[in-house]
Amino acid sequence: MQKHIAVILGDGIGPEVTQQSLKVLDAVAEKFGHEFSYEYGLMGADAIDKTGNPLPDETLEICRRSDAILFGAIGHPKYDNDPTAKVRPEQGLLRIRKELQLYANIRPINTYASLHHLCPLKPQNLEGVDFIIFRELTGGIYFGNKQKAEDGSSASDSCTYTREEIERIAHLAFHFAQKPERRKKLTLVDKANVLETSRLWRKVVQDIAPQYPDVTVDYMFVDNAAMQIILNPKQFDVVLTENMFGDIISDEASVLSGSLGLLPSASVGTGTVLFEPIHGSYPQAAGKDIANPIGSILSTALMLEYLGMNEEAKLVRKAVEWTLSSKFVTKDIDPLNYYFTSTIGDLISDFVADRIPTDIN
Ligand code: IPM
Ligand code: MN
Repeated sequence: MQKHIAVILGDGIGPEVTQQSLKVLDAVAEKFGHEFSYEYGLMGADAIDKTGNPLPDETLEICRRSDAILFGAIGHPKYDNDPTAKVRPEQGLLRIRKELQLYANIRPINTYASLHHLCPLKPQNLEGVDFIIFRELTGGIYFGNKQKAEDGSSASDSCTYTREEIERIAHLAFHFAQKPERRKKLTLVDKANVLETSRLWRKVVQDIAPQYPDVTVDYMFVDNAAMQIILNPKQFDVVLTENMFGDIISDEASVLSGSLGLLPSASVGTGTVLFEPIHGSYPQAAGKDIANPIGSILSTALMLEYLGMNEEAKLVRKAVEWTLSSKFVTKDIDPLNYYFTSTIGDLISDFVADRIPTDIN
């Protein structure tokens, strides 16, 4: 197959982790006889520095003409510490999501036996954890009306959802829950005891649930969900939630895996699908070759699956599992005995392309 991929390296560790994914893609191409072409676009602080715009039109055009988008990370401390900045890197990511109508962000949460010790939870609570968060991505408080008083005495962000915005992601999540490998359970996480938007989410989910009679639905307030994710994560199968709750509980859930650096995501909707690790730009590690590339590499596996390359995706996951269980890990996993970002990328791509000598296996 021939596929054209838009690559957005972004900020901080974005470039170095994405480079490892490109190595892996090249290895997949070599092994399976595919051809991937790459076209690079700017976004984030990098784009502001070079063009003054966090999402130049050219980047959007590149994305629109590609089969998929691979994105690194966004953010820079010089903006985080300046609440008065008018142009911010994150505006690039929010705009690309909106422009391409990527309304669902899908974040799978898995655990690895060899990493259980990194999680403060007991190993018996981690075995068999396997759930997936469907986070709404183009609505809610992220995109509502923002205001601040001239004199700086007050500010507001409004949260709005339409029935249609909820329905489209809810259908995706229900369909996903019906897959043979899923446990046919959908949990809506909201704050319906307080928020009007949450009550609309509940109503819409209740209204469409009868179309999926094989899926059990339960409803959980977000404060309770934050606790349940730590107390009994095995109870979750498909979690459906609005934009900001999803942002928060997915970082929380990454603790179950052992490191935020391991988690991938896919943002899907009507435009070109975007794949990105859930971690941020981790500026303290930028350029040091110590960041964990696995979040990006597993995002690449999701991308391969989306492109119809299931066997290829499976092999990439197998290669990742092999590095983790062989203790070829980055500094976030083992601060005393670690490998560089680029070495992990080499090992995973060598495994994929059958270049690993058998004595190391
Ligand atoms: C994420 C990030 C973004 C978000 C930021 C960088 C705007 O935290 O993808 O989870 O909040 O959506
Ligand atoms: Mn986030």
